[in-house]
Amino acid sequence: MIRSESLRIGVLASGRGSNLQAIIDAIEAGRLDCRLPVVVSDRADAQALERARKHGAKAVFLDPRAYGDREAFDQAMLGVLAEHRVELVCLAGYMRVLGASFVRALPGQIMNIHPALLPAFPGLHAQRQALQYGVKVAGATVHFVDEGVDSGPIICQVPVPVREGDTEETLAARILAEEHQLYPRAIRLFAEGRLALVGRRVVVRED
Ligand code: GAR
Repeated sequence: MIRSESLRIGVLASGRGSNLQAIIDAIEAGRLDCRLPVVVSDRADAQALERARKHGAKAVFLDPRAYGDREAFDQAMLGVLAEHRVELVCLAGYMRVLGASFVRALPGQIMNIHPALLPAFPGLHAQRQALQYGVKVAGATVHFVDEGVDSGPIICQVPVPVREGDTEETLAARILAEEHQLYPRAIRLFAEGRLALVGRRVVVRED
């Protein structure tokens, strides 16, 4: 698919925003032909908002407590994304579960990065879960978001060997370094129109 304009992505982030930064770096270095008009956070103090401002993106804090329920909060978020004509939503350390109506409003247009080789270890503290289970290979996954938790179709994954003596922190740091390569790659595949959904399988068209 040939696009006449760069894909417009919006990032949702709750914290540090190092994955957001990896996306920004890829855009600024010309490795990712996308525009990032807006970053939304559910936390006022998220470092991600600062990173967004530095890039020149609109940094929007939406306070979940200001909305009656998740549905109202999700609708507000959809409003912000629509206002910025976002075509792909990237969750980058976004720690709230999106409601079904949010997911249905953007079919096949929401991605998430998770620090585990899904379907192993969904949910919180994936790296801790992997260590406690005793796996020898951990990793990271980028997937499309469906209505479940970390259960959507898998776009790409990278393995990260667990080392003897790894702690949650050392393992998380090695996985994170891989995440920073993986997420921009997945977004680029989407932007280039190379991802197709066949059932729950993502087929990647090679060029
Ligand atoms: C990343 O490791 C990301 O995979 C994880 O949170 C971290 C965010 O770091 N996400 C999840 O666990 C989602 N279930 P960052 O804010 O520096 O990008």
